[in-house]
Amino acid sequence: MKNPFSLQGKTILVTGASSGIGRQTAIECSRMGASVVLSARNVERLQETYSQLEGEGHLILPADLLDTVQIESLVSSLPEVNGIVLCCGKGLTLPMQFATRDKFDDIFNINLFAPFELLRLIYKKKKIQKQGSIVTLASLGGTQIFSGRNGIYGASKAALNSVMMFCAKEFSSRRIRVNCICPGMVDTPLIHRGTVTEEQLQENEKLYPLGRYGKPEDIAYAAVYLLSDAASWITGQQLVLDGGISIK
Ligand SMILES: NC(=O)c1ccc[n+]([C@@H]2O[C@H](COP(=O)([O-])OP(=O)(O)OC[C@H]3O[C@@H](n4cnc5c(N)ncnc54)[C@H](OP(=O)(O)O)[C@@H]3O)[C@@H](O)[C@H]2O)c1
Repeated sequence: MKNPFSLQGKTILVTGASSGIGRQTAIECSRMGASVVLSARNVERLQETYSQLEGEGHLILPADLLDTVQIESLVSSLPEVNGIVLCCGKGLTLPMQFATRDKFDDIFNINLFAPFELLRLIYKKKKIQKQGSIVTLASLGGTQIFSGRNGIYGASKAALNSVMMFCAKEFSSRRIRVNCICPGMVDTPLIHRGTVTEEQLQENEKLYPLGRYGKPEDIAYAAVYLLSDAASWITGQQLVLDGGISIK
């Protein structure tokens, strides 16, 4: 019996696959039957992800997405895919009075321009099949102010949401769907790397109506759904996954 939620027979590219949400998304895609192409910069950590994949036919294509030459080489080595999950990204917590142009460039380069350039080339070179699905990791911070001092990061994700909505409209001519996932705080290395202390994180987590921050699998399961045929009538959407923090 056909299972519309299965990814059997699909090939899925996951960027940011060396850590956090991207790693878990790659693992869950493989569990649902997909062949997965893993990309990020750190080859050792990509191999750790690879070792956790189920099934066969997976591939590692390392690339620094800040380097347009490496983006081009990733696209030329890429097999035709049915789906893409764009997870590469970087956080920043900084009061707006210190938000210089350099800081904007740093965050916008990796959160907006890098995933867009990769997607643009994949689409242009027809490396994503008709009726494919693209899932982009934006953020709740790109739709509203849910935690302080995330102005630059939030702006990059708001821009990403907007760009992806235009892609959804234009790519629909090939029946390719484009959706964004907008998570609240998810427990990955990203949230422990910044200037926010562990005590501040623990206090903040208590504000979440469902009692906890997200886990990478909370996001991965939604990505799997959006990649699957079960979501074949969904495009141009921003799916908020946030343990209820936005309705608090
Ligand atoms: N965690 C959260 O609370 C949260 C909330 C909302 C949205 N998000 C978004 O979800 C996505 C995944 O975040 P995460 O929490 O899983 O973070 P993470 O664990 O820090 O993972 C970030 C990934 O991005 C890759 N990356 C960074 N710079 C890159 C570059 N120049 N070229 C290629 N890959 C690069 C990293 O791989 P390498 O270092 O190996 O290159 C890593 O695999 C991000 O877009 C983030 O903004 C996260």
